[in-house]
Amino acid sequence: MLAFARTPVVLRHPWTGRTYRLVPLDTLAPAPEVLERLVALCNEPELFRWLFAARCVGRPYGPDDARGWLEWGAAGWREGRHFAFVALDEGGLPAAACDLQSAAADPEIGYWCGGEHRGLGTPMVEALAVLTRAAGCTALQARVRPGNARSEALLRRCGFVRTGTGDEGSSRWFRPLGGG
Ligand SMILES: CC(C)(COP(=O)(O)OP(=O)(O)OC[C@H]1O[C@@H](n2cnc3c(N)ncnc32)[C@H](O)[C@@H]1OP(=O)(O)O)[C@@H](O)C(=O)NCCC(=O)NCCS
Repeated sequence: MLAFARTPVVLRHPWTGRTYRLVPLDTLAPAPEVLERLVALCNEPELFRWLFAARCVGRPYGPDDARGWLEWGAAGWREGRHFAFVALDEGGLPAAACDLQSAAADPEIGYWCGGEHRGLGTPMVEALAVLTRAAGCTALQARVRPGNARSEALLRRCGFVRTGTGDEGSSRWFRPLGGG
C-alpha cells in the first residue's frame, strides 16, 4: 500500500525562477478557467501529437476531455489505483502534470509540460521521484514512443537508463529509487 504525502511541493523553474505548486490532481476543481487552461495546453501541437492525437481522432482536445481527466485523477486517488499530480502556476492554473500509472512498487510514470513552462519537466519528475520513494516505491519505469526525443532527454536528465524496446517500438526506461 503506497502512502503519499499530499502536501504541496514547491517547484522552482531552473532558469525563469518562476515557482509552481505540485499538488495531487484530486485537489483541482473543474472550474471554467481550469478547463480552459487544460484545453489550451493539451491542444499545443507537441502535447496533442504525443498524448492525444490517437484518442481525439479528427477533433481537438475539448472541455469534456479535461473534465474526464480530472475525474480520472480523482478516482485514482480515491481507489488507490493511480496517482496523478498537477503543477499549478502562480495563478493556481495548470502548467504541467505527471502521474504514476499504477500502485506497483515500480510504477510507470507519465508527464507533460506546457510550452510556456518548458524546462519545468525535469524538476517536476524529480519531485515525483522523491514523493514516490517516500511513499514506498523502489523504482520508476517509463515508456517513450519512437521519435519523442524531448521525452527521452527528460528521462536521461532525471537519471533513467534505457533498458530495451517494448510494444510498437517504444523504448523502455528504468530508474531505481533505492537507498542512497
Ligand atoms: C517531454 C516534455 C515533458 C519535456 O518537458 P520540458 O520541460 O521541456 O523538459 P526539460 O525539463 O527536460 O527541459 C528541457 C528543455 O529546456 C531547455 N533548456 C535547458 N536549459 C535551458 C536554459 N538555461 N535556457 C533555455 N532553455 C533551456 C532544453 O534545451 C530543452 O529544450 P528542447 O527540448 O527544446 O531542447 C515536454 O516536451 C512535453 O510535454 N511533451 C509532450 C508530452 C510527452 O511527450 N510526454 C511524455 C510521454 S512519454
